[in-house]
Amino acid sequence: MKLSASIILFTLVMISSLSYGENSQNHETKKVNSGIESLSPELRDLLQKEMAALQHGMMSIIPAYISGNWGEIEHIAHKMERSYILKKNLTEEQVKELHDSLPESFIKQDQYFHYLSGMLNHAAKNKKAELVGFYFSKLGESCVNCHRQFATHKFPAFTAETSQLKHEH
Ligand code: HEC
Repeated sequence: MKLSASIILFTLVMISSLSYGENSQNHETKKVNSGIESLSPELRDLLQKEMAALQHGMMSIIPAYISGNWGEIEHIAHKMERSYILKKNLTEEQVKELHDSLPESFIKQDQYFHYLSGMLNHAAKNKKAELVGFYFSKLGESCVNCHRQFATHKFPAFTAETSQLKHEH
């Protein structure tokens, strides 16, 4: 009896903390990610596929980097640069949709990401290990910066971080 009572209590606590988390996340989501959430399902699906491809690219760079396989990094960076959503062959309508629904800073961050993968490609072409490392880490930062602003519904850890920052001020 005692045990089941504490299980019920535990469950209640879990449920209330879960729903609290959900509420605060929804709140944040509406505020920050309205542009993303108003994309058509086709476009959003495309965006998520591109993100998975980017993640795959980032992970494949490590073994190439630590073994000095510059040709492979060049190839991956080039693919990342070309494959990114705003560079893809979207229909004219979809391009318009993207530009209408996403704020200017999303476009800016996309362009910066694009620039960085170009620089990574360039550094690999020149076989400059230090520069490859530098641009790889800048790329990682650019993932985080955009997610912090536009993908806290996917990566809620950044929501907590943001509100923590606010509390400090
Ligand atoms: C210009 C903005 C931007 C940049 C740069 C960016 N992302 Fe994303 N990412 C997003 C958004 C927005 C979502 C959420 C998409 C959604 O919910 O439909 C996302 C979601 C993801 C996801 C989850 C996809 C899924 O299945 O839901 C992964 C993985 C990911 N990003 C990886 C990366 C990696 C790795 C990088 C850097 C190399 C990166 N992203 C750079 C905007 C960005």
